[in-house]
Amino acid sequence: MTAPFDRVWLNASLATMDGGGTDDPLGVIEDGAIAAKDGRIAWLGRCADLPEGAQAAAQVTDCHGAWILPGLIDCHTHLVFAGDRAAEFELRLKGASYEEIARAGGGILATVRATRAAAEDALLRAAEPRLRGLMAEGVTTVEIKSGYGLDLAAELRQLRVARRLAAELPVEVATSLLAAHAVPPEYAGRRAEYAALVAREIVPAAAASGLADAVDAFTDSAIGFTPEETALVFEAARAQGLPVKLHADQRRDDGGAALAARCGALSADHLEYASPDGIAALAHAGTVGVLLPGAFHVLREERRPDIAAMREAGLRMALATDMNPGSSPALSLLLMLNLGCTLFRLTVAEALLGVTRHAAAALGMADRGRLAPGLRCDLALYRIGRPAELCYWLGGNPCVGRRVVAGR
Ligand code: NIG
Ligand code: FE
Repeated sequence: MTAPFDRVWLNASLATMDGGGTDDPLGVIEDGAIAAKDGRIAWLGRCADLPEGAQAAAQVTDCHGAWILPGLIDCHTHLVFAGDRAAEFELRLKGASYEEIARAGGGILATVRATRAAAEDALLRAAEPRLRGLMAEGVTTVEIKSGYGLDLAAELRQLRVARRLAAELPVEVATSLLAAHAVPPEYAGRRAEYAALVAREIVPAAAASGLADAVDAFTDSAIGFTPEETALVFEAARAQGLPVKLHADQRRDDGGAALAARCGALSADHLEYASPDGIAALAHAGTVGVLLPGAFHVLREERRPDIAAMREAGLRMALATDMNPGSSPALSLLLMLNLGCTLFRLTVAEALLGVTRHAAAALGMADRGRLAPGLRCDLALYRIGRPAELCYWLGGNPCVGRRVVAGR
């Protein structure tokens, strides 16, 4: 008879993220066990209920009371880039705004210059420690955007680095083409022409390369793209069968949330200025709202996303680092849990669902983000007394183990 399981974890508390309503939003199982077969969760429940013979021929791990969560998911990062923008951080401390710096040719374009000048291997070496830092915290899936190339070759180079990271490290990577992130210097003053180029050439070429899992854009009428230009890029993505995501309503209400909803986007991200109507439209469309408290904090924004409207609308909220060298040099997803709670007033359950179940939804991944039979057995183990500790500590890392299944 073949063994029922090949891995078993015993004596753990499970936060399944598959909870039963307001009483138990995290779906906690105390004195729990989880068993896997061929990379999938085959069984979970209380240790006392483990099926007969479960441990035969399985590799058994005694968790000694640790907590097990589904492997964390950072669903919004720009972690492949060259250089840093610490000097801009200093300028902002002296009073310069993000927009002033961008208009003076700094900001995103400063990172574009550095990234275009970097060889692929150099980009890989720069990105690897950032990704390893996330992995050490229990992250098993990461989304990585391009957006610092802004021409076909350089955009594809960033995406290729993202794929190479996934091939070389035990982590899953979802890529997003963000060619519509800023207007490159060679198109200065010709924003619409560049948006048309993205739609006509860059999106189809990225799709043909197989390097992009989704298409993202930055709707911001001052330093990004108008809703009309964004819609053109999204049309191109749809024609290629690629899902879309959007940097929406970060610095003003540009109608980004409504646009993302209309286009059936997987997620709309930032949303500080999204209106209650835009938020309701997102919820109705099944689009996930991705909250990025690192950018809010670093840019010293004062306007919070309207969490009350999000709750009211039943919008699924995810939480991510937005790791990038400008608005959010955030190297820790656990720190974002704290900032999500303290700055945005999320509950512990909302924050934790935001880096698991709802983050998976923001990537269109139905096979992870919860602990349930049949799903991938990607796990993160923490030495904590209760889940709230993951949101409570500012710094430090209680992760004592992680496991990621290879391949999709
Ligand atoms: O998500 N908002 C636009 N894009 C990034 C910032 C990129 C940068 O400043 O380099 C963001 O905040
Ligand atoms: Fe971003």
